[in-house]
Amino acid sequence: MDSAPKDMCGIVGYIGSKEATDVVVEGLRALEYRGYDSTGIACIEDSGNAKLLKQSGRVDNLISLIKESAPRSHVAIGHTRWATHGLPNSVNAHPHANNNQDIFVVHNGIIENYQELKEQLIKNGYIFKSQTDSEIIPNLIDYYVRQIGSFEKGLSAALNDLKGAFAIAVIAKNKPKTIYAAKVSSPLVIGVGKNKEYILASDPNAILEHTKEVVFLEDGDLAVIGPDKLKIYNFKKSNKKKPKLELLDYDQEKASLGQFPNFMLKEIFEAPKTIQSAILGRVRPDEKIIKLGGLEGVSTQLNYIDRIVIVACGTSYYAGLVGEYIIEDIAGIPVEVQLASEFKYRNEPFSRSTMLLAISQSGETADTIAALEKVKDFGCLRLGIINTTGSTIARLTDAGVYCHAGPERAVASTKAFIAQVTVLTLIALYLSKGNNKNYTKLLEELISLPQKAQDVIDLAPEIKKIALKYKNYRSFLFIGRGYGYPSALEGALKLKEISYIHAEGYAAGEMKHGPLALIDKDFPTFAIATNTNDLDKIMSNIEEIRARGGPVVAVATKGNKAIKRLVQDVIYIPKTLSHTQPLLLATIMQLFSYYIAEAKKVDIDHPRNLAKSVTVE
Ligand code: F6R
Repeated sequence: MDSAPKDMCGIVGYIGSKEATDVVVEGLRALEYRGYDSTGIACIEDSGNAKLLKQSGRVDNLISLIKESAPRSHVAIGHTRWATHGLPNSVNAHPHANNNQDIFVVHNGIIENYQELKEQLIKNGYIFKSQTDSEIIPNLIDYYVRQIGSFEKGLSAALNDLKGAFAIAVIAKNKPKTIYAAKVSSPLVIGVGKNKEYILASDPNAILEHTKEVVFLEDGDLAVIGPDKLKIYNFKKSNKKKPKLELLDYDQEKASLGQFPNFMLKEIFEAPKTIQSAILGRVRPDEKIIKLGGLEGVSTQLNYIDRIVIVACGTSYYAGLVGEYIIEDIAGIPVEVQLASEFKYRNEPFSRSTMLLAISQSGETADTIAALEKVKDFGCLRLGIINTTGSTIARLTDAGVYCHAGPERAVASTKAFIAQVTVLTLIALYLSKGNNKNYTKLLEELISLPQKAQDVIDLAPEIKKIALKYKNYRSFLFIGRGYGYPSALEGALKLKEISYIHAEGYAAGEMKHGPLALIDKDFPTFAIATNTNDLDKIMSNIEEIRARGGPVVAVATKGNKAIKRLVQDVIYIPKTLSHTQPLLLATIMQLFSYYIAEAKKVDIDHPRNLAKSVTVE
């Protein structure tokens, strides 16, 4: 089987008065940021002919194909496919068609029982050309439509046979004015545009340009879209539902590149604005209070929480680790941070007074969703720190605090980390109810932080010069203590994912327990040596590295002159509390990695093998 995690792929569909292929292609462009390796489109032309165009490569290549064939159509579906196994070629690309070439399907997700269904279909005379599981879907629909004699009923029967996670869009030559869409555990949203047009997508970014009025499909929904109307059924129970219209809370302007060469740099530069948006209206310095509207409904339950388990993946997990330090320090509540992919398979005691806190930029990460689902019946409170409003995790949680960072388009997460850590700081202050000696200091520090973040951004040319000196090393160590430790882990992740340099993050206190053996002149260290109670200890760690000939780049707090004599390069950050240092450190390490990646001429917004939103396990 083609085991591509197709859920990271993108679906777009359009039905309306505009040229459908143009709208679908623009939608696919808006999803390019997710990463993909092939694209395709199918449409039913006004003449009644069906057209299927697909190829490996970028959306631009697809546009050339479309131009050559000049379709005229008002109904089309398209797809960007992201493969890990199985060739990213035109045969495996979506849409897939039935043998008769009159039913077309785009599919995100994995059909777990596809082998069994394929064998049955082969017995019934169907032939398969691709290595994908998706190709069984149009043929299975074809099979049932022939058996039952009704397209909608046949489609429902086929959907009921599929096991696994999927979102699909279907068009058929015999139904030239309709798009069918269905989903189970994979997102799908329908934009309701002006003049009775509908735009279907697996990611709201493809819809924003047309409308903010949307209907999110729920698991088991089968939507029959157009002409001029939208009907939704539950395909498991066959009952009709009233479409629930919602308003997308996105700012389209923020999703465009402006004068930046790519989204990653743009998003790194948004750090000051990101902190500002996350604290806006929430930090009230005059009254010395933190107001988190999203937690008001659960404020009584929060009084009984005696333990917090944070679940997340990747960068969001590292933000969680920073949160662990802050919440324990400021609110005095024990916190444990777990990788969602581990949490969901663990068999640990979990009491009702434990709160699960999920952190996710996309709100669609499969492992984090599974972690939330695991505790669904435990009776515990489930909170979210999410950037994407209306996402699956935002819907699954009892309450939460949105990041308000705006859409993050580059695959590598930057401003989302800043927003998550800011929100975690707000939650720590909120939970402390003011009962901490650092409460007021921290609250006031948050207000001055956007300016400090801007001062760090202004160091970009200097950081670039330093980064270029290190671009040819093959490995890097990132070390820190206290708040510097999770920061070091995140710094190492950023370097490896966008510059492809091997990097490891370590607690500096662990150096003597193993990593020191790696140090020599070819193995540089990025040391976080900002002002904290541990500064003299990290300075000793740096001495040990220097004694073994290891080059060191350090980040220190302005005023630390002693460090200059010890290391090759220093980047200074403005003075801030140790709790808020990760917010400034993150930008420095993001820029450091960015400039190395730029010098290596990699596709910065789409690092190889990675996708923006990891919606399958
Ligand atoms: C790294 C990165 C990933 C994500 C991770 C979780 O730069 O972007 O590690 O942080 O896949 O994604 P979300 O936050 O969407 O759940």
